[in-house]
Formats: sequence, C-alpha cells, structure tokens
Amino acid sequence: MDVRLNLALVEERLATHYVGRNLMYLPQTTSTQNVARTEAQRDAPEGTTVLAEEQTGGRGRLGRAWVSPSGKNLYLTLIMRPPIRHLRALSIVTPLAIAEALEGVTGLTCRIKWPNDVLVGGRKIAGMLIETDLAGEAVKYALVGMGVNVNFDVEAAPEIAEIATSVRRELGHDCSREEVLAALLNAFEARYTDAQEGDAAFRAWRSRLETLGRRVRATLGERVEEGVAEDVDALGSLLIRRDDGTLVTVEAGDVTLRA
Ligand code: BTN
Repeated sequence: MDVRLNLALVEERLATHYVGRNLMYLPQTTSTQNVARTEAQRDAPEGTTVLAEEQTGGRGRLGRAWVSPSGKNLYLTLIMRPPIRHLRALSIVTPLAIAEALEGVTGLTCRIKWPNDVLVGGRKIAGMLIETDLAGEAVKYALVGMGVNVNFDVEAAPEIAEIATSVRRELGHDCSREEVLAALLNAFEARYTDAQEGDAAFRAWRSRLETLGRRVRATLGERVEEGVAEDVDALGSLLIRRDDGTLVTVEAGDVTLRA
C-alpha cells in the first residue's frame, strides 16, 4: 500500500515562523538535496522544505548511499541562508533538533555520535548532510538534508541492519511520521534561533555526545587519529588525546567508537 504523509496533520502541529512554512512534497525523487538546490537557485525563501516519500538516489555523508524506501521514513532538505559566522552551527543544531524531536514524540533516549549521527541504543536512527554554496565569504544557501528512520523495517535491509535502527524497531510498533516531522521542524527553528543568541544549543548538543570519554578512531581522508575523545571546542571540533599525551583537534571526519 502506498502510504502518503498527511500534510494537514503536520501543519496543525507546526509552531514555526518560517521553517517548513513553504513545504514542497514529492512522492518520489532522486534526492531532496537536488530539488532543494534548484529551488534555492530560484531564490526560494529561507526555511523552504523539500520532502520526499522515496528517494531513488538518496545520498549520505562521504559519498555513501542513503537507503530511502517509500512511505516509511522522513527524507527532507531545508534551505537555509545563514550568515557565514553561523554556518557551522547548522551541524550542531540539526542533530540536536532530530534528537529532541524523536525523544519528545517517542520517549526513546537519543544520543549523538560526533559530529552528527543520531543514535538510539548505539545504532544510527538518523543522519544529516549539509551542502553549501558560497559566493566568496558569503553563504548563498545551505542545504540541510535529514534522513530519519521512522517506520522502516531495518531487518529487511541486511546491508545496514547491524548498524542502523528505526523508531519501529525500537518501539515494536509504527509511529506517526507527521508528529515527528512537525516536532523536528519546530525544534530546528527554536535551536537555530538559540544558536544565534548564545550557547544553549551548543551545550545541549555537547551533553548528548556519546563520543566524549570514549576511545575513538577518526578518519580524515588519508589521516587517521586514535585516542580518547576528551572534549569539543566552541566550534564543535573534536579534541582527541593521543596515546603519546598530545592533543589533536579534528574539525571533520568519520569517527568509530572503540570498546
Ligand atoms: C549520513 O550519511 O548520515 C547523512 C544522511 C542524509 C540523508 C538525507 S535524506 C534527505 C536528504 N537527501 C539526501 O539525498 N540525503 C539527505
């Protein structure tokens, strides 16, 4: 059966000023990032949201694919136009908003694996991908992509079953995608506002980090850093204490949590 999102239910719960107010809903597309880029180039207003029931070419970080079956999950991209000094805040606000929304709607405890994977019980339930177009020092637009596994039967996707989860897998029953979506858009706008005004969003993100105090391996292209994740700095970079006692700052990368 083809399950369609009930947009009226989402709108009823939406408490934002601009995020999600211009919502473009697509039954199927290659990737919401592609559609959002075209819309951004046509001057779509900030907060425009492109949402698809199914993606045939869903993209993850580091060139990976994002499994995007129809009618089960949430695949969306927000068009944002932050001043350059707030661009990095998007990488903090996005996983935080996803974690807070999922926790609020489902009661599941959501943690964050640095920098921005959302985990439940150690498995990934959501991810984000930010693509940016700059004009010199100015941000033309940032495309904030989010994939949230809601009613996905993860066991039916053997390639990710070990490392991924969904609300359905954790709760043992389906949950309302409309409620999760509205809560997510509400949390995103509220936390994005916080991030521009002070450090509340940063502190909330930091306190959810599963990574801190753990032994990690960070891969940054060819470079590999291993040690204990000691803290994050004010910009969100990870501070790793190497075994020789030196401290290294990792701005971006892929982190594996060790035993
Ligand atoms: C990750 O690797 O963790 C990032 C996953 C991001 C997936 C979302 S789904 C909506 C948007 N469209 C895409 O093609 N990717 C992002």
